[in-house]
Amino acid sequence: TTHKVGYFIGSLAKDSINRKLAKALVRLAPPELEMSEISFKDLPLYSYDYDADYPPAGKAFKAAIAAVDAVLFVTPEYNRSIPGGLKNAIDWASRPYGTNSFTRKPSAVIGTSPGAIGTAVAQQNLRSVLSFCNSPQMNAPEAYIQFTPGLITDDGEVTKDTTADFLRTFMQDFHVFIARVRSVLPKDA
Ligand code: FNR
Repeated sequence: TTHKVGYFIGSLAKDSINRKLAKALVRLAPPELEMSEISFKDLPLYSYDYDADYPPAGKAFKAAIAAVDAVLFVTPEYNRSIPGGLKNAIDWASRPYGTNSFTRKPSAVIGTSPGAIGTAVAQQNLRSVLSFCNSPQMNAPEAYIQFTPGLITDDGEVTKDTTADFLRTFMQDFHVFIARVRSVLPKDA
């Protein structure tokens, strides 16, 4: 069976290396995974003042998450955490109270940075947030991708075989994880 995966790209930058990584993951994903981006760039800064009457952008964002079977976070590390835009988006998805979009939604986390630790600290932060949001997370494999010039082309072609193999395995393992989690969830989850 196929599964829909919505992916978030933590960076808003035009030349984002995490966008390149996301393109690579789309190309390397097993055919059972239908990949689509969930964009958060048009969301205003969240406040609970919106909860009483969620604006169309917030509703559309939550609907996009509801429409997929799993979510994938492809994020840079900014100041040892996730970018503010991504945190803002997660806050939008988690509310209004009682309608948290991530509860029971399987997730995986990956990211790339030019630095040697390859977004490890940001991912650890993100995992804490996703735990609180009650998302079943793929614990392993972890994926800390150090971006070197030319590693992934603008079209998402990975130029190093060992990295391509690793990313392909990551997506295959995510597929197995999604299938396993979904098999024990109620049909309407
Ligand atoms: C960074 N960068 C960075 N890198 C890292 O490994 N750890 C960090 O804590 C930070 N902090 C940080 C803060 C801010 C505000 C910026 C703009 C950058 C460098 C970062 O990894 C690099 O700019 C990547 O290109 C970011 O990924 P995207 O946005 O290109 O996908």
